Amino acid sequence: MKLWGGRFSSKADEIMEKFNSSLPVDYRLYREDIAGSIAHVTMQVHSDLLSPEEGELLVNGLQSILADIESGELKIEGNYEDIHSFIEMNLTERVGETGKKLHTARSRNDQVAVDMRQYARNQTSVVMDALQVLIDSLEAKGKANNVIMPGYTHLQRAQVVTFGHHLGAYAQMFKRDKKRVQNAAEILNENPLGCGALAGTTHDINRQVTTALLGFDKPVDNFLDGVSDRDYLVELMSDFSLIMMHMSRLSEELILWSSQEFRFITISDAYSTGSSIMPQKKNPDAAELIRGKTGRVYGSLFALLTTLKGLPLTYNKDMQEDKEQFFDALDTVLDCLEIMSKMIDTLQVNEKHMKAAIKGGFLNATEVADYLVAKGTPFRDAHEIVGKIIIYCEQENKAIEDLTVGELKKFSNHIEDDIYEYIDYESIITKGNKGLMKKQ
Ligand code: ARG
Repeated sequence: MKLWGGRFSSKADEIMEKFNSSLPVDYRLYREDIAGSIAHVTMQVHSDLLSPEEGELLVNGLQSILADIESGELKIEGNYEDIHSFIEMNLTERVGETGKKLHTARSRNDQVAVDMRQYARNQTSVVMDALQVLIDSLEAKGKANNVIMPGYTHLQRAQVVTFGHHLGAYAQMFKRDKKRVQNAAEILNENPLGCGALAGTTHDINRQVTTALLGFDKPVDNFLDGVSDRDYLVELMSDFSLIMMHMSRLSEELILWSSQEFRFITISDAYSTGSSIMPQKKNPDAAELIRGKTGRVYGSLFALLTTLKGLPLTYNKDMQEDKEQFFDALDTVLDCLEIMSKMIDTLQVNEKHMKAAIKGGFLNATEVADYLVAKGTPFRDAHEIVGKIIIYCEQENKAIEDLTVGELKKFSNHIEDDIYEYIDYESIITKGNKGLMKKQ
């Protein structure tokens, strides 16, 4: 079942048929393929390549194929080269000889290009919506649990922050990712239909008609580029890779925080699994899988970049490989976004353990130095003094706020009773510009 048997005298090898077919992968372009064909037929009528009656016959045929695929009556299967061949041959079976006119002034090269652009564009909204759901989950969870916790550098306890501010950092990353996807959607929104195989067509067609019908901003400026460009897929997969990288960092924190060593959060049973041998185990598998699948999405990005790097203009069959990588990366990122949002929505925050971790980490040491600065000590001297206080606290096994003023005065006689309020963990969060962390 071929669209191009004319110049061939013998059949392809069976393994070649299978190797060459993209139908098991590109079947999911059926809606975009039919929309592209309906727009093309409308343009053909507009350009007198088809009579209005022929146009109507083809459009009705295409619509009936769509309806039958959606209802399950027509299964996308069989020995076809790709979704384009499947639909065109099905159309000719339904409407007869007129079906053979569908491909006038078109090549599968501009056809597959217009299908993928529509598909990618449609999916950008799905990804942006999923990102927004995650952003909302992070902000809601942070707002409902804006408790103080240790902030880290080098994974060492550093200064007091709030849980809302910590989750808010991730919300910022996903907000940037959303803008990136939006930007990619704007760049890709040009119509390649009408480029033909690579060099346009001698038929007097009007690319504005399909451009308007398919919702593109303009026809592409260059035919050769129009059928060769897969930049938009690489760009979207780079965006997906960033989304995964951000989710992977968040996953890593969820895994750490849910460990017995931290106990800052409890991940819901719904997103955890147990051990077949150790009865006490509850493992953060959802977060681990998201972290793990990040490698898979990076892999897809690199696979496509590598496929494209040596290709001469214009279309080469290598480009058929774009779909498997793009679809897999897209499905993975959408699954991960959904699971991550749900995991955030349902996790429990253990305020008690977060507070206990603050107490043990000298997390107000910087504020003791700031206090000394406020009393007139140069910051470098203040830093040195607090260093000595820490050594003393470690020897005595005490926190700074547990020392008496008498003990503290041995390190600096600028220290007075007002130090306790200044270095209190809750009040630290309200001082200077730190108030930002409370505003969630
Ligand atoms: N299945 C092909 C692809 O995905 C469609 C384009 C075929 N074009 C061609 N000249 N063989 O790239």
